[in-house]
Amino acid sequence: MLAAILRNTGDDTLEVADNVELIDPGPGQVKVKITHTGICHSDLSAMNGTIPQAAPAILGHEGAGIIDAVGDGVSTVKEGDHVIVVWSPPCGHCTFCTGRKQPNLCQTFMFNPIMGKFSQDGTPIDAMAGAGTFAEYTVLPAEGVVKIDDDIPLDVASLIGCGVMTGAGAAINTAGITAGSSVVVYGAGGVGISAIQGAKIAGAAEIVAVDMNESKLDEAKAFGATHAVTPDDFEAAKAEITGGEGFDYALECIGNPVTMRASYDATRRGGTTVIVGVGKMDEVLALSAFELFFNEKTLVGSYYGGTDVRSDFHKLLRLYKAGKLDLERMISRRLKIDEINDGLAELKTGNVVRQVIEF
Ligand code: APR
Ligand code: ZN
Ligand code: ZN
Repeated sequence: MLAAILRNTGDDTLEVADNVELIDPGPGQVKVKITHTGICHSDLSAMNGTIPQAAPAILGHEGAGIIDAVGDGVSTVKEGDHVIVVWSPPCGHCTFCTGRKQPNLCQTFMFNPIMGKFSQDGTPIDAMAGAGTFAEYTVLPAEGVVKIDDDIPLDVASLIGCGVMTGAGAAINTAGITAGSSVVVYGAGGVGISAIQGAKIAGAAEIVAVDMNESKLDEAKAFGATHAVTPDDFEAAKAEITGGEGFDYALECIGNPVTMRASYDATRRGGTTVIVGVGKMDEVLALSAFELFFNEKTLVGSYYGGTDVRSDFHKLLRLYKAGKLDLERMISRRLKIDEINDGLAELKTGNVVRQVIEF
């Protein structure tokens, strides 16, 4: 089958091959025909080593498709069902999934992906986050898919699998944005635009988008930002909107310690800063030991939008059907898998919200 392979960490491009092999689904597993997969910044981060990733690997973790086969004992889905891929599946039984009610942090499948499911000429190929959606088919634990209605277009469904859930979930679940509050979102890519839409759904009064790419500013407003500025113009916007106090909520959707620090500084005394972007392991965010105490800000990370995918994917799809979550316009460009390197290059320019590969 066709797939895009990261040969070595640090490579600028992926290798598109047509001779990748895949195992059949074992007990409790499902085989998915991937129809659509978004290109997320985390795919670039896996290529350049920001996100630890073994190589060779099939990247891609934001996918949707159709169940092609199921292994023994699978009762949650059947052949022909439409599904969204979950890159961090909740097992449903561990302490994170049950007592702690933090199923997004479940590690059952994170540390036990289906090893060796992909191969080429007898050599095993890893799968990003255990998913590997830059391939025509993939095999996942049954917990790694969420069944959706057949009338949901699979291109927009794929976006729910990572960027939309991550951004909207950070706003709604992690930050817990309340009606009438003020919000700033750093970064207006697929994740940031989703955070802006989540803040709007939660009833924020003001939503300021900050992006260094001027072409993103009008785009952010079209998705619900009330103001959109470059970092240079941010202090003036903060003064105008908050009287200089800072915002009730600041969400960092870039993954850069400089904008993480800026997000913390943009938060008012007693407000909440949410780190959504994924930075490098060896980069450090500096905070004074005094300010943490004195300003009583909440500084919190958001992993997969604090989601329980089993209910949240459906909630987001209801919002989409009700016209309150705009997914269609998030798709800047559609590509075939052999155009993926063009898509990755375009993502680096910062000019796209989301590009979707159609198999
Ligand atoms: N200041 C302001 N804006 C910036 C800066 C900066 N220093 N650096 C980048 N940006 C903007 C880009 O112009 C772009 O619009 O941030 C946006 C990032 O968008 P994408 O590259 O599309 O990334 P996305 O897929 O949205 O992911 C964002 O979330 O899940 C994580 O790993 C992912 O860390 C990444 C982040
Ligand atoms: Zn679990
Ligand atoms: Zn992603």
